[in-house]
Amino acid sequence: MSTWLVTGGAGFIGSNFVRRAVRETDNHLVVIDALTYAGNLRSIADLVEQRRITFEKGDVCDVEIVRALFTKHRFDRVIHFAAESHVDRSILGPLPFIRTNVEGTANLLEAARSAWDRRPNDVLFLHVSTDEVYGSLDPDDPPFNEDSPYRPNSPYAASKAAADHMARAWCHTYGLPVVVSNCSNNYGPLQFPEKLIPLMILNAMEGRELPVYGDGGQVRDWLHVEDHCQALLLLLERGRPGATYVIGGECERTNLQIVGRVCECVDHLLEREPGTSARLIRHVTDRPGHDRRYAMDPSRLRTETGWTPRFALEESLPDLVRWYFDHRQWADEIRTGAYRDFYDQLYGNR
Ligand code: NAD
Ligand code: DAU
Repeated sequence: MSTWLVTGGAGFIGSNFVRRAVRETDNHLVVIDALTYAGNLRSIADLVEQRRITFEKGDVCDVEIVRALFTKHRFDRVIHFAAESHVDRSILGPLPFIRTNVEGTANLLEAARSAWDRRPNDVLFLHVSTDEVYGSLDPDDPPFNEDSPYRPNSPYAASKAAADHMARAWCHTYGLPVVVSNCSNNYGPLQFPEKLIPLMILNAMEGRELPVYGDGGQVRDWLHVEDHCQALLLLLERGRPGATYVIGGECERTNLQIVGRVCECVDHLLEREPGTSARLIRHVTDRPGHDRRYAMDPSRLRTETGWTPRFALEESLPDLVRWYFDHRQWADEIRTGAYRDFYDQLYGNR
């Protein structure tokens, strides 16, 4: 049994990862999460109550808290999810992104470096990052791969790019065994409803407008969160220290295609006349600096680890819509006053 530190384990991907790691491994998981607006202890509360994992509420930027964790536990793996993750919020206010994503990552790398000084061969720091560091593709460009140049366009993407560079530098300079993964857009249960798919599902169910930025022709490469977590588990076993791995679903869809499919699923589930939800679509002012297209080529991951995604988007969306329908209380509890203020700020005058 080994001990893993999971940062951001109360967020969307982190909580899915923790749930899966508990199901499939017998490792001891310690989760640190600041429980920002995006973190929800409910997503892992049953595991904490059953003592299947250890939970520490804490900020990854806090030098003392992070150092104390590394002193208390003998970590064999760090899986670093904690981040400010929403592009629109980074446009409204970039500084928290620099703090958490850049300083927080540096603080964790430093703590790992000092704790792992004498055991570089049996430990690994997995830094979880995004395809957005590569910027935007033209329609005919090949997908991004590990050799694509960094061209981050939003404050969020720039902060993640800075964190990736530090992870690489800590590996190169200090020999810290680091793997960086850059993944495309995830969908699945437990995602905070500020992101496209859960926002559209809940708005459609509630008969609210569906705000599509610009012409809705932007393309994202969608991957089910379970497939992302599976890739990360494989990288924890077989990832080569110093290497980067691109992860993606090879499932490019325009935002309008996604919203259209969500509308069909909601109408079907709620036994509404087909087309009812689609009438809620409203094209609103585009996101500033909006990246037009992302796509990823996960060949290296496939070849080195044997990873293959199991979920197909169109077939998975009805189940996902059903999940949000069955977990309306989960969604209602996180859509607090602060969420409504943010919603008004982002969409109010659009
Ligand atoms: P999320 O916003 O749902 O969760 C982030 C978690 O980090 C929350 O639980 C939050 O409370 C916690 N957190 C934030 N600041 C913190 C701090 N200073 N200290 C401790 N905890 C803090 O994000 P997500 O969608 O689950 O993304 C997880 C990671 O995966 C991020 O690093 C993100 O960049 C990356 N990623 C996300 C996607 C995606 O589609 N969602 C795709 C590729 C990569
Ligand atoms: O690509 C990986 C990234 O995917 C992750 O690194 C980020 O953490 C994650 O938030 C996500 O970023 P996006 O900006 O792609 O996701 P978002 O769900 O915010 O938006 C997806 C697309 O939908 C994007 O083109 C913007 C558009 N959109 C989004 C919202 C919230 C709309 O048209 N309307 C909306 O209301």
